[in-house]
Amino acid sequence: MSRTELLLLNGPNLGILGKREVEVYGTATLADIEGEVADEVAQHGWVVRAVQRDCEGALIEAVHSAHDTVGAIVNPGALMIAGWSLRDAMAAYPRPFIEVHLSNVWAREPFRHKSVLAPLARGIIVGLGPVGYRLAARALAASVL
Ligand code: DQA
Repeated sequence: MSRTELLLLNGPNLGILGKREVEVYGTATLADIEGEVADEVAQHGWVVRAVQRDCEGALIEAVHSAHDTVGAIVNPGALMIAGWSLRDAMAAYPRPFIEVHLSNVWAREPFRHKSVLAPLARGIIVGLGPVGYRLAARALAASVL
């Protein structure tokens, strides 16, 4: 059991944040974001289990092995659109999770307007950039402590 670990899961193409379409996603790197979340949850005695994978199967394996975590922050990237296997992995995840998107997906192309994970999420934060992850961490701490 590791009820003091928070799963921070990032999907495809999020490992190159800081270099990727900076006009959309900004200049913060994933390491910056992971550091911010770690900083946010430290006050609760939690540590972050940060996982980024470009393959859906690898993300699913990470979720399966994280059933002992206290909750999760998930940015599925484009797997939001049709990542049904990741959706099912999150359905089996026993703790609350918050879905985060850096960009405001509803202000973008129509194919980004639907998330297969969203109905399972405790909440969703979009369009606030890296601070969205920090807010998600704060919200999880408020809802599970
Ligand atoms: C994203 C939005 C997705 O539509 C996109 O495919 C990403 C990033 C975001 O954080 O804004 O990879 O999840």
